[in-house]
Amino acid sequence: MKPVKVGILGLGTVGSGTFNVLKRNQKEIRGRAGRGIEVVMVADRNVEMARKIVNGDCEVVSDGNLLVNHPDIDIVVELIGGYDVARDFVLKAIANGKHVVTANKALLALHGNEIFEAAQNRKVIVAFEAAVAGGIPIIKALREGLTANRIEWIAGIINGTTNFILSEMREKGLDFDTVLKEAQELGYAESDPTFDIEGFDAAHKATIMSAIAFGVPVQFDRAYVEGITKLEAIDIKYAEQLGYRIKLLGITKRMENGIELRVHPTLIPAKRLIANVEGAMNAVLVNSDAVGASLYYGKGAGSEPTASAVIADLVDIARLESVDPEHRVPHLAFQPDALTNTPI
Ligand code: HSE
Repeated sequence: MKPVKVGILGLGTVGSGTFNVLKRNQKEIRGRAGRGIEVVMVADRNVEMARKIVNGDCEVVSDGNLLVNHPDIDIVVELIGGYDVARDFVLKAIANGKHVVTANKALLALHGNEIFEAAQNRKVIVAFEAAVAGGIPIIKALREGLTANRIEWIAGIINGTTNFILSEMREKGLDFDTVLKEAQELGYAESDPTFDIEGFDAAHKATIMSAIAFGVPVQFDRAYVEGITKLEAIDIKYAEQLGYRIKLLGITKRMENGIELRVHPTLIPAKRLIANVEGAMNAVLVNSDAVGASLYYGKGAGSEPTASAVIADLVDIARLESVDPEHRVPHLAFQPDALTNTPI
């Protein structure tokens, strides 16, 4: 079978990780996909840096339009982040009949309905395992592993930066600003860290999980969002004295009248497994009828953990490409207005 041809938009932390892991593990990946996965072009504004990373293995351009319009590319991997430019490229790629893999949770939380609808009309796949919880295959767990289940609720530590900040404040007694700086230096934080500390990044991810778990449209604007900026070291200390840890949780829950969607700091009894998830790690607890509680733990950010999720999607698409587009599972079941935002 001929290799599937890939173009990567954005060769930053995740893009370079994707390129490197694809190259390093190409034999295993080819075996699992049943065909080769070949990066034929990357687009990045910093062409010089990109050339160093790809080291002559593929074409490097600065204009993403060349990539999304390239006739030989089957899959466009969008790793530039942000809203407008990313939306534009993704919609162009779809219009050109290309499959899309993206790690862009903000894009999907805000423009997901439009993007999924365009993809369904054009009969291409949009895959986004990397958009939620980095290296933890939570989208696949919800869609595939738990597919027989009625999901009741999901509660997750889905922002590594805030979990790192809360852990360091508790364990080392450090103040908020010092730890935030450290998280930025370690590459966990978003380019605009307010997305992390004000809870928006977690809300983007919770919105996507909610849509997958409950078959509702993505409705980020209906989420209740509260970050960790109002927390002080004393809150964390008192919580500990009372036998609790404070975690920023993204929660989505089936309610009688719709679906609840919220992000806020939560007191969790210290003996619970999820309360002991420390540092930049992520963990997602899913409660579903057949399985009961299941917990998914791992690295939610970083170059290679996120690249792992991107490549898992590439392999999926490489396998699915031979399936008649009419018989591919739709991205989301649209049930407009099914979502309410009932605060607890
Ligand atoms: N800023 C995000 C986090 C990166 O801290 O979890 C991964 O989405």
